[in-house]
Amino acid sequence: MQEELSLYDPSLLLGLDFFRSPAGFNPRISAAVPGETWLKVRPLQTGDYNRGFLQILSQLTKVGDVSLTQFLNRFAQMRASGDYYVTVIVDTRHDKIIGSATLVLERKFIHGCGTRGRLEDVVVDDTYRGKQLGKLIVVTVTLLAEQLGCYKMSLDCKDKLIPFYKSIGYALEPGNANTMNIRYENGTISANRTGGNCKPDDTEPS
Ligand SMILES: CC(C)(COP(=O)(O)OP(=O)(O)OC[C@H]1O[C@@H](n2cnc3c(N)ncnc32)[C@H](O)[C@@H]1OP(=O)(O)O)[C@@H](O)C(=O)NCCC(=O)NCCS
Repeated sequence: MQEELSLYDPSLLLGLDFFRSPAGFNPRISAAVPGETWLKVRPLQTGDYNRGFLQILSQLTKVGDVSLTQFLNRFAQMRASGDYYVTVIVDTRHDKIIGSATLVLERKFIHGCGTRGRLEDVVVDDTYRGKQLGKLIVVTVTLLAEQLGCYKMSLDCKDKLIPFYKSIGYALEPGNANTMNIRYENGTISANRTGGNCKPDDTEPS
């Protein structure tokens, strides 16, 4: 059997200093020591297509029918760019993905050719929520962004999740906390999404 590829170097996660994060963990856990022997935090791997990775993303938004070939092509693009840090939590007892968050590096000319981090696609399987795993995966990629030299990390979220992200150290910056979108869907350009395929508020598309 062919060996699986990792999206990025897994050793990057081992040195993250969770004491640097303002997030409070009780009991204390980290990416290297996630609190249970059957939990593992690691980069996305090629075999995760068969470990329910896309199914878990469907708890966040519409995923659509993504074939293995499409998945592997996208994986290869992300890996080659070196700017995508899709990070997952695995329940090794069932060999199943139960959480994910992505750090995307946005390369700039400003800030002395600096790099901004973007936090994307945060989700924990609904049967595993409320056990610090959301905090664990977000803090992991947030610390990774700092380690990789980002000057800041940004995210978009629903209003109800503001307390969750505040508890991890994210802040609304007065006068600078708006998200605006224009959507290219169904052959039209619009500010409002009225498509019938979209899921209700709780799983709003990113
Ligand atoms: C948001 C999400 C990742 C949180 O995962 P989780 O594993 O339940 O989170 P944790 O157990 O680490 O919770 C951390 C803290 O945030 C709070 N919190 C978690 N989910 C929350 C929610 N939906 N609304 C408000 N607070 C929430 C918890 O009460 C907890 O507070 P505490 O530290 O004071 O105890 C999970 O609910 C999820 O996958 N939701 C669906 C997808 C989604 O909305 N993703 C975010 C897109 S921006």
